[in-house]
Amino acid sequence: MEWAWEYVNIFWSITTILLPFFFLQHFHRRRSSKNRRLLPPGPRGWPLFGNMFELGKEPHKTLMGLKQKYGPVVWLKLGSINTMVMLSAEAAAEFFKNHDGAFAERSVTEVMKSHGYYKGSVALAPYGTYWRIMKRIMTVQMLVNKRINETMDVRRKCIDDLIEWIRNREANSSGGIHVAKFVFLSSFNMLGKLLLSRELVDPKSKKGSEFFAAMVGLMECSGHQNIVDVFPWLRWMDPQGLRRKMDRGLGKTIEIVSGFLKERFEERERTGEKKKDFLEVLLEYEGKGKDEPEKLSDQELILIILEIFFAGSETTSSSIEWAMTELLCNPEAMDKVKTELSEVLGDTKKFEEADIDNLKYLQAVVKETLRLHPPIPFLVPRKAIQETEFMGYHIPKGTQVFVNAWAIGRDPECWKDPFDFKPERFLDSKIEYKGQNFEFIPFGAGRRICAGIPLAHRMLHLVLGSLLHEFDWEIDCSVLDEALDTQDRMGVTVRKLKPLKAIPKRKNKTL
Ligand code: HEM
Repeated sequence: MEWAWEYVNIFWSITTILLPFFFLQHFHRRRSSKNRRLLPPGPRGWPLFGNMFELGKEPHKTLMGLKQKYGPVVWLKLGSINTMVMLSAEAAAEFFKNHDGAFAERSVTEVMKSHGYYKGSVALAPYGTYWRIMKRIMTVQMLVNKRINETMDVRRKCIDDLIEWIRNREANSSGGIHVAKFVFLSSFNMLGKLLLSRELVDPKSKKGSEFFAAMVGLMECSGHQNIVDVFPWLRWMDPQGLRRKMDRGLGKTIEIVSGFLKERFEERERTGEKKKDFLEVLLEYEGKGKDEPEKLSDQELILIILEIFFAGSETTSSSIEWAMTELLCNPEAMDKVKTELSEVLGDTKKFEEADIDNLKYLQAVVKETLRLHPPIPFLVPRKAIQETEFMGYHIPKGTQVFVNAWAIGRDPECWKDPFDFKPERFLDSKIEYKGQNFEFIPFGAGRRICAGIPLAHRMLHLVLGSLLHEFDWEIDCSVLDEALDTQDRMGVTVRKLKPLKAIPKRKNKTL
């Protein structure tokens, strides 16, 4: 979807409304030209619309191109929204090390305000007590290695199901399979079991199927560019109807999850049993500190459940799709990763999470994929809490900040042969994705770094390693160009524009 062209249909109908604002803004610009000198450099942009028409279909790529002309920190105006973009590892390091607190707020899109979603979501919550409590629960109790280890069997069982689905599909057709679709289903199922101990991708489960369909609808809706986000004063009109759509969809989803919760409360009361899933961690929360609620409310529980599906399913499946695409485009790397898998696991053993530490090349493949294709290329946008001096510039309160992790991962100042897929670069390197190496930040950095890194690390290696260990993969020649195409599509995450279709060939072995 193109950043700006979706707006063209509604452009003419609102031009009349915009004209008075054009004159006002022109006047304001002249008056504030003194302050503007203190802003970072950037392309001049159109009156009123600013730079929104210049970003194109793949804004992370367009913005990367601006570094040469304007330097590592670029200023844009997207409609009426002040925007600062980081384009180098040095600028990102300065941002996260010395200004993290001043920019710890999130910039929230209009659809995410539906049903107060952003207030209950960790990723979008205002920087304050609620965010602190939830981030602590997630990173100290829920998504920590000890708790994740306890659920290793659950993930392994989900992988068995994934392999079974692919085998059944393979038996029925000789064509390629839509890799990301299978992995998305599997990740979603995995999160359903880890979080709620529920089978959500089972056609026999009506509630599960309803929830899955509703969540997919919400992800699509939240991935659309919305003109209201660049002209907030059009909110009342909701010209694309996205807010109305989100209100309906999210309302339905909240109702379904509320039913899941009710069932859990009843089951707990009936059996006295406590499950080992993530929901149990949330239910056991007892606030002790100042300003902390005693218990999480039902609405908070529901929104956190939705958050985990939002944060964990698309990100994982889009990364696996890119990893498979890069490996199919680079047969040498594919051979190396398969050789390592058969040397470490042999022909009969299944891939287990305990094997990850012994699979250095597989780890390098995952890192190289995330370097070239971070699923959230601008991270989750931050916002200036107050007026701030940053690298000699004066940044107004409320400025939104994009850290272009995609551009930084391909910066020739940090990486040799930056556009080539070379997992070897990570073999003798100490560079990790934990927010300390600013040239490689697919999970972000600072206070608002991804809360799910330990789980994402397991899921990515387990799913990719198992797909490669169980099957030999070939490109579907009927869609060769599409399969190997490396253009992106913006949505909730950046996905491959043309989905990868690849043919799984069962390996000759008995497991
Ligand atoms: C390939 C997988 C994933 C990638 C690449 C990824 C990436 C990210 C990024 C870039 C951010 C924003 C960081 C920042 O602004 O500095 C983020 C935030 C977050 N992620 Fe992930 N993520 C992944 C998987 C997961 C999973 C599996 C979960 C949970 C189960 C999760 C939960 C979160 C949460 C709760 C936040 C918000 C943190 C905050 O605002 O304090 N993520 N993630």
